[in-house]
Amino acid sequence: MDAVTFDPATRTWLLRTANSSYALRLDDAGLLRHVHWGRPLTPAQAAAVPLREGPASSFDGAVREEYPSEGGARFGVPALQVRYADRGRGLQWRHTGHRIDGGALALSFHDDHHPLELELHYRVHPDSDVVERWASLRHTAEAGTAQDTPVEVLRLDSACWTLPVLDDYRLSHVTGGWSGEFRLHRTPLPAAETTLTSRRGITSHQANPWLMVDGGDAGEEHGEVWGAALAWSGSWRITASRSHTGDVAVTGGAGHEGPAVVLRAGGTWETPVFAGLYTDGGFGAASRAWHRYTAGHVLPRPDELRPVVYNSWEAVQFDVTEEKQRELAARAAALGVELFTVDDGWFGARRSDAAGLGDWTPAPDRFPDGLGPLVAEVRRLGMRFGLWVEPEMVNPDSDLYRAHPDWVLHTAHRDRTELRNQLVLNFARPDVAEWALGWLDALVAEHRIDYLKWDMNRAFTEAGWPGAADPDRLWHDHVHGVHRVMDRLRAAHPGLRIEACAGGGGRVDLGVLARTDQVWTSDNTDAHDRLSIQHGYSQLYPARTMTAWVTDSPNPLTGRRLPLAFRFRVAMAGALGIGGDLLHWSPEELAEAARLVEEYKEIRPVVQQGELHRLRDAVQYTLGDRVVVVAWRLPSVYDGAAPAPLRPAGLDPQRRYRDEATGEVHHGAVLLAHGLPLRLAGDWASAVVRLTAVD
Ligand code: GLA
Repeated sequence: MDAVTFDPATRTWLLRTANSSYALRLDDAGLLRHVHWGRPLTPAQAAAVPLREGPASSFDGAVREEYPSEGGARFGVPALQVRYADRGRGLQWRHTGHRIDGGALALSFHDDHHPLELELHYRVHPDSDVVERWASLRHTAEAGTAQDTPVEVLRLDSACWTLPVLDDYRLSHVTGGWSGEFRLHRTPLPAAETTLTSRRGITSHQANPWLMVDGGDAGEEHGEVWGAALAWSGSWRITASRSHTGDVAVTGGAGHEGPAVVLRAGGTWETPVFAGLYTDGGFGAASRAWHRYTAGHVLPRPDELRPVVYNSWEAVQFDVTEEKQRELAARAAALGVELFTVDDGWFGARRSDAAGLGDWTPAPDRFPDGLGPLVAEVRRLGMRFGLWVEPEMVNPDSDLYRAHPDWVLHTAHRDRTELRNQLVLNFARPDVAEWALGWLDALVAEHRIDYLKWDMNRAFTEAGWPGAADPDRLWHDHVHGVHRVMDRLRAAHPGLRIEACAGGGGRVDLGVLARTDQVWTSDNTDAHDRLSIQHGYSQLYPARTMTAWVTDSPNPLTGRRLPLAFRFRVAMAGALGIGGDLLHWSPEELAEAARLVEEYKEIRPVVQQGELHRLRDAVQYTLGDRVVVVAWRLPSVYDGAAPAPLRPAGLDPQRRYRDEATGEVHHGAVLLAHGLPLRLAGDWASAVVRLTAVD
């Protein structure tokens, strides 16, 4: 089966994945029309799909276009908007050709008059149902000719996704804030334009750049679901438009409304990928497909087991001294921790969040002989070494800012707004990006640092670059600059792993995951709150990327007291870490923690590399013959009977499974129908069930 085919008679292109098809067609008027996104079709079937007629009235004019650019009788959200040097607007495309190369398809269009070429790109992979889409716009004029005038690009979306006509539509997405990221919402999609966006220069805590749409009838394990996710770590906008006639389109891309970039003769503007996925297996299957895609086509090191980390932030905050870190390291090593990370406060004049950012040399009063002795001690204890950095930031009270006040994002005659007492370094500037790469490279090389927690603790304001020819471009080029520094650092240090962080989960997307290994999910480490954060995170992103620490009780943020085992069992659903003040844990707590770290290591391959099924108050991971269920019991009212059994998902009813704790063997069919042999007694109880298929 060819992944991409073209039927010249109907001018229909068809992309096929194992379980879905995607088709588009050039109609008689030369418009590129959306034809199909859903269940598998053959080329003959795709060619036979009738085009949906547009509304009859002259007041409407809209048809289901594949990529609606501004111009003509179009009244929806344009995927592409430009302004010419004469202040004119609008695009009028003529199809000029296509290229098929394995799973890749590119369609080309040229404007009827202006020197602009649009390419729409599609790519499918043999092992995924994800369709990757992106666009590029090229200014085709020869330098010095009459058409050599700049074109302002007001909007260039990566793709516009069209949904089939359903009886109803429901939107799934996440919202949140600092310490409350990834809250999942399922709401009816109104007959309106619903915009999910970030104007902050990062993907944001408030929204995450993906959505899913279903007919209102999908469940965790059944039903058709369409979804799309943007691989972009900066500002973004995704708009889902639903008309009263039942047409739904989702256009999305990098950047928010307002900023515009200038395209000059010979220049090309290429968007990030906006990936789409169709499944008929419900939200669970959608998540599993996104996880597989992320592992297969996004993450740099998907198959590597993530280490059990210790991080000192909650234990000491800014009070980082060599002595205390050594004590914490000794305790962490005894628990079975594999990587010890020193967080904020190790450098410059950083004694609080008021000073020092930008001065990336170890504070002499805290590390009299530099970081070397601590790194050596961590290694001696058998752990790898990690370090917190925030390369994009500067405190005005720093040597760096005193030397380079022009390196930050700023606008002439406007105040420089400080958030957390810091300003954003302009990574669109090549000299700034080179400076960052320089010190990061030297630091990593000097200590053979294994792991960087790369933080980013404030949004953009006054996002200007006085004197730059095209200042708005920095919204994009800052992101490219950050990505490039990460890429070059990794290339120079193949052993280096990076954890993405922006005050917790403020910068999580398929773009940052292409150059990082895991994500600091949230600054909220309260295990109860984490359940909903992790639930939302897991909709798109896989467990192996989700760093989750066990911290102190009462929780420093929420004051909630929770048993150690419960805190561990919640964190075990991702990449386990420890972030508590181990110097104050009792010998009993330390002994229990060591046992739980061991339990995690035993189930880790299944959690980190298995397939996720979300159950009621539990998550299940399956890898080959192994099944792991991590279950929690939240406070509930006793209503006279034991709670309903916890039924696993996806087991083979024909096989039998051994419970590794008891040695008992159970029929898959019985487990599926009657639930796991599990009794969770009391509030905040938790358990791990390990099953292995035996025949
Ligand atoms: C952010 C991170 C925290 C910690 C602090 C340090 O808030 O999310 O984990 O690193 O910065 O300042």
